[in-house]
Amino acid sequence: MDDLIQQAAEDLAAAGKVAALTGAGISTESGIPPFRGKGGLWERFDPMEIAHIDAFTRDPARVWNILVKEMKKIVDSAKPNDGHKGLAKLEAMGKLKTVITQNIDGLHQAAGNTDVIEFHGTFAWQRCMDCSQKYETRSVDITEIPPRCSCGGILRPDAVFFGEMIPQDALWRSRQIASDCDLMLVVGTSAVVQPAALMPVVAKESGAKVVEINPERTPLTDEISDYLIMGAAGAVMNQIIEKLEQIS
Ligand code: OAD
Repeated sequence: MDDLIQQAAEDLAAAGKVAALTGAGISTESGIPPFRGKGGLWERFDPMEIAHIDAFTRDPARVWNILVKEMKKIVDSAKPNDGHKGLAKLEAMGKLKTVITQNIDGLHQAAGNTDVIEFHGTFAWQRCMDCSQKYETRSVDITEIPPRCSCGGILRPDAVFFGEMIPQDALWRSRQIASDCDLMLVVGTSAVVQPAALMPVVAKESGAKVVEINPERTPLTDEISDYLIMGAAGAVMNQIIEKLEQIS
């Protein structure tokens, strides 16, 4: 693993434009459960029953009670960990420009990254299903479920449910960034949800190096990634930054 850390630091030092694609794995060390694998949300819930837009529209109170309330509790108090801070440091060092994240927890921005594409929207805001008025999630009163807008409409997370389109600007910009970078760091994603998982493929096809950080192999590992650094995002990012600081 030491060799791969050294390799990643050298590749980052040599790269002009670096982008990152992140997933739930980067936020597990902040206490936010992932979706798949051990302890994942989809071990407890069927996503089609609880995270599909049809399920929300059919019974918003149920989805609020089972999923959204719990997420609000966790996300409201979550803090960035060394994985997020490492990516913010890479930006401060002038290496990393854009983070494309599938996460809706806002922790990249909290860590200090300034150009974050929220591919699946954000949990920081709730949106009225009738008039589209937005409310900051932290200040939404949830004594009555589902919470409502002043117009009477039901509030929903300003995030993408299964069955919904990716915000067009997020998709368009992500493709641009992926096709224009020299190196893409892929951190903490199982890379099974499309079209997010396509971004490293676009990067690779455009000539970029793809460096994965994940404790497990993913569908990208053999076909797309140049190499996988097997480990937790926080510890791996700390080691990469330490090496990078030594060589640059
Ligand atoms: P997943 O839960 O599918 O995958 C999390 C990945 O993080 C796995 O590959 C883990 O091995 C890895 N992992 C776990 N702990 C880690 C750590 N400490 N450091 C680094 N990696 C770690 O999450 P996503 O790939 O983000 O979509 O899932 C993609 C989408 O599926 C989500 O955005 C969400 C979900 O359904 C929507 O809600 C639309």
